[in-house]
Amino acid sequence: MSDLRPIGLLDSGVGGLSVLREVRRLLPAEHLCYVADQANLPYGTRPAPELRLLVERIVRFLIAQECKLIVIACNAASAAALHHLRTQFPELPFVGMEPAVKPAAERTRSGAIGVLTTQTTAQGALYANALSRFANGVRVVTQVCPQLVALVEQGAPEGESAQRIVAECLAPLQAAEVDHVVLGCTHFPFLIPHIQAVLGESVSIIDPAPAVARQVYRVLETRQMLNDASSTGDMRFFTSGNPMQFSHVASRLLGVPIQASPLH
Ligand code: DGL
Repeated sequence: MSDLRPIGLLDSGVGGLSVLREVRRLLPAEHLCYVADQANLPYGTRPAPELRLLVERIVRFLIAQECKLIVIACNAASAAALHHLRTQFPELPFVGMEPAVKPAAERTRSGAIGVLTTQTTAQGALYANALSRFANGVRVVTQVCPQLVALVEQGAPEGESAQRIVAECLAPLQAAEVDHVVLGCTHFPFLIPHIQAVLGESVSIIDPAPAVARQVYRVLETRQMLNDASSTGDMRFFTSGNPMQFSHVASRLLGVPIQASPLH
């Protein structure tokens, strides 16, 4: 039996597209429904109770679109709301994000790793847990950088001023001589070329999105909810912000034409 219902994904903005891209690569037959809550961006500076309400509203929209699984493609939203959502909607599988401290801590040779993230994620229990489970004996430099979220919302432009913003965020990580940098915000994979240009090739950057896509696959497979079609699935995009602006930036980031609809 093939389950034709879509997979839902949500983020404050275009960041979750870094996760959508990996889900698409791994599961091309699946229909995808993506929501950007750009009217309320940024999420990463909001208190958790407020974020829970915002995220629950989007989840209800995705449920109305008959989504069979929802990816909280946002570290801040996962930190604030994942536990709450699993309690609130016990029938629905959720896949969330947390900073990938484990692989970085396992692989470091310098004994120092960096985590680029936002405030809500840095203060959340998921991150505290990941640190206490996996970071023993490793120095972790947590760098909160909302400027990078804003940069990606502008389409991750190249050029000197963007490069300067990225370099400023990375300065404390360079000073600590980290050899791994964990991307703890789904916006940041779109800045990998900028980050690598500052840090050089000797520093490894960890984007958790491919692992999240594999987790989506495992959950769907276990529940026998995969779409077995041999054709490519549809992708639908919604934003609570400006659909033209979203479409423009998303098309640039994903390298394919995208047309978003307003979220009512
Ligand atoms: N993309 C989101 C994350 O992964 C946060 C961006 C924001 O602050 O809105 O945390």
